[in-house]
Amino acid sequence: MLSLKKRKTEFFLFGGKGGVGKTSVAAATALHFAESGKKTLIISTDPAHSLSDSFETKIGGEIRKLRKNLFAVEIDPKKAMKEYKEKIAPQMEKMDFLKGLGLEDTFDFAGNTPGIDELAAFDKFLQYMQSKDYDIIVFDTAPTGHTLRFLSLPDVLDSWVGKMINLRMKFSGVINTFKKILPFGEPKEEEKKLGTEQLEAMKSRIEEAKGILSDKQRTHFNLVTIPEAMSIYESERSLSILREYSIPVENIIVNQLIPENRKCPFCTEKRRIQSERMEEIRKKFRGYNVQKIPLYKEEVKGFGMLEKVGKELQKK
Ligand SMILES: Nc1ncnc2c1ncn2[C@@H]1O[C@H](COP(=O)(O)OP(=O)(O)O)[C@@H](O)[C@H]1O
Ligand SMILES: [Mg+2]
Repeated sequence: MLSLKKRKTEFFLFGGKGGVGKTSVAAATALHFAESGKKTLIISTDPAHSLSDSFETKIGGEIRKLRKNLFAVEIDPKKAMKEYKEKIAPQMEKMDFLKGLGLEDTFDFAGNTPGIDELAAFDKFLQYMQSKDYDIIVFDTAPTGHTLRFLSLPDVLDSWVGKMINLRMKFSGVINTFKKILPFGEPKEEEKKLGTEQLEAMKSRIEEAKGILSDKQRTHFNLVTIPEAMSIYESERSLSILREYSIPVENIIVNQLIPENRKCPFCTEKRRIQSERMEEIRKKFRGYNVQKIPLYKEEVKGFGMLEKVGKELQKK
């Protein structure tokens, strides 16, 4: 009969510099879970539609079934931003007022500053985090330090509410005097409510996301890197930012390792340099599980190649 299986969705996230292989690894991970019978959704916010390229099939802005157990969606960041702006439009005029309250670091609302598209993407991210329709949700590209700042919003809001109360206490005497002498009357009930309810709802969504993100059983945060200095630095930076937000990192995935080929002096030299970097990675990320993926001669595209990458990821 209608046995409602209560599932607790697990989340997979992949951080790392552009071009290191995040989309490839995310797609391979999603395919692996779908094939092992888990209902899986993969989400991308990359405007370049790299997920469509990776699966060699058009995905688009609505959730699409790619094969048994495998669903995908490519969120258009521009559209998400438009939707988000419409949603917060009634709040916008109040935003100026937030400035004096120490919120300018969290909200970067001045016109079209980069803050708002990230906030829009993060809003989508929070929405999907609340979904209970899938066993596994894979996010292609993880939130960055810039977006993770929004996780501190509940604390900021709390201190804001605190400040408001203080202000009100300070000025209540003055306001009462004004009320008596000026003909403004009492504010309508809905005027008082506007804003606070939405803020409270957003606050609790963020609190929930924070809980999920810091839960090792549910969130699997992986850093994808290549054995090159720049990419390693980036991973170190990500790791320390994630630590700040108590988000545990599960695996360091080192991609594009040159396979052995004694007949190719170039490859041999490149391999030697890479193995030095590999040493560095093991030292810098001691205690983390390090996984390796070779550099293939083909691009990682289509189900066949993604399965191949998935097999590498299963190796211990
Ligand atoms: N191990 C690999 N071997 C060969 N090509 C790879 C490998 N990993 C990624 N690629 C290719 O490199 C490019 C960038 O990979 P992608 O997964 O899109 O990176 P990101 O999402 O981090 O920008 C793609 O064309 C992909 O096919
Ligand atoms: Mg990508």
